[in-house]
Amino acid sequence: MSDQKTTQQTTQQTTYELIGGAEKLRELVDRFYDLMDLEASYQGIRIMHPRDLTSSREKLYLFLSGWMGGPDLYVEQYGHPRLRARHLPFSIGISERDQWLQCMRQAMKDCNINGILFERLMQSFFTTADWMRNRAG
Ligand code: HEM
Repeated sequence: MSDQKTTQQTTQQTTYELIGGAEKLRELVDRFYDLMDLEASYQGIRIMHPRDLTSSREKLYLFLSGWMGGPDLYVEQYGHPRLRARHLPFSIGISERDQWLQCMRQAMKDCNINGILFERLMQSFFTTADWMRNRAG
């Protein structure tokens, strides 16, 4: 491998690579749903989800892989995510958005995702979560 290629690869690292790839992403998604299941403060969004979170874990993992610039696993299996349309059956306002974001913030902290990477991810998660709002207030 040439030096130039090495430099290019470091400067063009994706978020997916920066967090540590598939294994770390699985850990993050698992922690996210474990917390949603455990913490009373996320009950408002927990009750919208199925009792068994297995498929929720799998789908969020597949989606975030592509969303972070890694393999586009969700699209390969299910086609275009139509994420906003898929959330329309659930009433999502500011409180639900903020529960989701707080749960993800706590999951990232527990998985030792810190610094600029943490800040950048929180900002991107905010944009996506805010776009999912379908109820005033
Ligand atoms: C804003 C607050 C949000 C709430 C209350 C919420 C809630 C839900 C619920 C109830 C489901 C359906 C149950 C399931 O299939 O697990 C779901 C599915 C999903 N959500 Fe969210 N969600 C939110 C934000 C987000 C964000 C920010 C992302 C991505 C960054 C996301 C990604 C997904 C994906 C990939 C699915 C599976 C879609 C499918 O059925 O194929 N959600 N969400």
